[in-house]
Amino acid sequence: MVDQRKIIIDTDPGHDDAVAIFTALGSRELRTLGITAVAGNVPLELTARNSMALCECAGRADIPVFAGCDRPLKRALVTAEEVHGRTGLDGVSFPMPQMQLQPQHAIDFLIDTLRNEPEGTVTLCPLGPLTNVATAMLRAPDIVDRIEQIVLMGGAYFEVGNVTPTAEFNIYVDPEAAKIVFGSGVQLTVLPLDVTHKALTTPKRLDAFRDLGTKQGQVVADLLATYNRHDTAKYGSEGGPLHDPCVIAYLLNPELFSGRLVNVEIETESELTMGMTVVDWWKVTNRSENAMFISEVDADGFFELITEKLACL
Ligand code: RIB
Ligand code: CA
Repeated sequence: MVDQRKIIIDTDPGHDDAVAIFTALGSRELRTLGITAVAGNVPLELTARNSMALCECAGRADIPVFAGCDRPLKRALVTAEEVHGRTGLDGVSFPMPQMQLQPQHAIDFLIDTLRNEPEGTVTLCPLGPLTNVATAMLRAPDIVDRIEQIVLMGGAYFEVGNVTPTAEFNIYVDPEAAKIVFGSGVQLTVLPLDVTHKALTTPKRLDAFRDLGTKQGQVVADLLATYNRHDTAKYGSEGGPLHDPCVIAYLLNPELFSGRLVNVEIETESELTMGMTVVDWWKVTNRSENAMFISEVDADGFFELITEKLACL
């Protein structure tokens, strides 16, 4: 048995979250200790339900799913039904999950797991707003030094924003939470729009998922065929960017990616640029280099890896 890397997926499914979860569950290299749902693309009740439906679709009803925060730390919740549909997973009709939500709150699961697992052995993988992670850090500051690292999808710099001209959705929804996480001192790897917009689900790549001939391959193809419509119309691209699976692929094969260790600060004051990830790419300040900001990906290698892992479910 390969030495498995222990991860917790914090998520707001969400079409691309779904592919990330499937990829993680299809990877023998990773041991998913739990999935913590957060309000984001759709409200918490749906992100929690969707998380369980995806685990069952992957044949992994053994994965514990926890409900977390139902709103950002300070601001009103902003959702993205225009992208993901009313259910959050439009395009596929999942049966109501048979598995039950864990009775423990996601924040308590995060804290207890990080306290009980050996220090530096658990990687956090946030795929949505950072409300759960920041709340756990605020409630139990001792866990910060116990996190192996945080590998998250969020932010944008040269690619600019997708929800405002300057902000990416995950950061924009809860900029106060993002400020806490980016300022925590935890080793941070950021997969922003700068890289995810280079990982486009083209028709050929979509066909590769469908050609797997498996239930999960069909589900992913149907989800992404629906999800693609919004972004191909918005960007005029040949496919929609596949954001969240970049986090899991980075864990599995970081060689597929490249970036730069830089300072990233979060705008939490200006309404005009709220939620912007301000990246000191050219080191013009003496601010601390708090994040590995990923900007490049081998897109063919990325999709081959995702397809390979989906086949293992
Ligand atoms: O901006 C893209 C991010 O926002 C992705 O995580 C997507 O699932 C949405 O949460
Ligand atoms: Ca997401």
